[in-house]
Amino acid sequence: MHRRLRAPFYLVLAFLLTGGVHAQESSAAKSDLLEGHRLALLICSACHSVSADQPDPPILRPPALSFRSISKKPGATEQSLHSFILTTHSTVKMPFNMLNPQLDDDQAAAIVAYILSLKGRH
Ligand code: HEC
Repeated sequence: MHRRLRAPFYLVLAFLLTGGVHAQESSAAKSDLLEGHRLALLICSACHSVSADQPDPPILRPPALSFRSISKKPGATEQSLHSFILTTHSTVKMPFNMLNPQLDDDQAAAIVAYILSLKGRH
C-alpha cells in the first residue's frame, strides 16, 4: 500500500474495528496501538523483535530483548517504559546502551501502549 495512505487507513480500520461512534474512547486506544505497532516496526525492529508479523529479524547481533519479553518484565509499566524510551542515550563511553530514538511524547505513548498490549500474548 502507498505509504501516504497508511495513517488514514489505520484510522478507518480502527474506527471500524471498534464499532464506530459508539466506542470513541476505545477507538482512540486502538488507533494508538496501531500507530505504536507501525512505529515499532519502522524504528525499533532493527534491534528488537517487535512483533510476530515483523518482515525481517533484527539486524543487531545479538538482538536486544524482544518487545514481548519487555512487556512481561515485572518492572515494565507505562511510566517506566515511557521514561526509558525518552531518556536513554548511547554515548562514546556507553556504546552499547540504546540510542535515544528522538520520539515525541505521543509517539512514545503509542509505542508503550503497543508494548504493554503484548503482555498477555503467547
Ligand atoms: C540501534 C539499536 C536499537 C534500536 C533501534 C532500539 N533499541 Fe531498544 N534497546 C537496544 C539495546 C542494545 C538495549 C539494551 C541496552 C539498554 O538497556 O540500553 C535496548 C533496550 C530497550 C529497552 C529496555 C529493555 C529492558 O531491559 O528493560 C526498551 C524498553 C527498549 N529498548 C525500547 C525500544 C523502543 C521502543 C525502540 C524504538 C522506538 C527501540 N528500543 C529501538 C537497542 C535498540
